[in-house]
Amino acid sequence: MSKVSIIGAGFVGSTVAHWAMIAGGCQIILVDVVDGLAKGKVLDLIQAGPIAGHAIDAVGTTDMAETANSDIVIITAGVARKPGMTREDLVSINAGIVGGVVKEVIKYSPNCTIIMMTNPLDTMTYLAYKLSGFPRERVIGQAGVLDGGRMKTFIAMETGLDPENIHTTVLGGHGDEMVPLVRFSSIGGIPLSSFLTPEQIDRIIARTRDGGAEIVRYLKTGSAYYAPGASACKMAQAIAKNQHHIYPASVFLQGEYGLTDICFGVPVILGKNGVERIIELDLNDEEKAALKRSADLIRSTMAALKF
Ligand code: 2OP
Repeated sequence: MSKVSIIGAGFVGSTVAHWAMIAGGCQIILVDVVDGLAKGKVLDLIQAGPIAGHAIDAVGTTDMAETANSDIVIITAGVARKPGMTREDLVSINAGIVGGVVKEVIKYSPNCTIIMMTNPLDTMTYLAYKLSGFPRERVIGQAGVLDGGRMKTFIAMETGLDPENIHTTVLGGHGDEMVPLVRFSSIGGIPLSSFLTPEQIDRIIARTRDGGAEIVRYLKTGSAYYAPGASACKMAQAIAKNQHHIYPASVFLQGEYGLTDICFGVPVILGKNGVERIIELDLNDEEKAALKRSADLIRSTMAALKF
């Protein structure tokens, strides 16, 4: 059984724990600095177990020592944006929080794989990679699964087709310049253009890019958590169960896609050692230019980091 620690018991962290309970097969440690928060949420989850028919082995705590020897650590700690803010606006406040968390994570679980969820996602993944000293295979940012899931949802809404038939690819940074790749998306293996007009495709791309902000505008006091939580849980499962599943994830690049010294969303194969392989797609000039714009936005956010 894998030991999965979730740092931060806010909406995102506790929802990851909920999805992990449903997926099963792991011990869950939910940690939060706020006294009683993780303990109370885990107690509630444990009580949900026999009602919903899920076995659960979980601990809620303020003590990072309880995370010792985790296989996977999912970092959700940090502040969520409010309406009118971009994810990038959170860089200074969340860098301080994530920096402190990463030091504790590596102290207690030197062999774990880190899945980052805190925004601005690619910059926080970069910070964790640099501070941890871990190999790049073991520091992964969750974003493309979520963004691809949103694109899938919007395609299903426009076409009325089963989302399970829909494959999407969204690469680049988890920001306003994310890159939904129409050429690498399909419905039942058939190009999107066979089902959707160019206007519909443009609308889907715009709504995917705005997907997080659309929810922030409704919630007013925070951001999404059901779909982000489900996404991180899928990635953790791929690692815990050595699934060799292809997911888009933010990883430290060393020349792939023409980029170095940046964490960026690219397709990877996930297995028990974290990232087993980065897959390089054969992109056209327009797609390359879109990825460059996305990388430029991340680099301008990374400039706020202090080591
Ligand atoms: C989102 O896109 C919170 O970044 C997350 O909803």
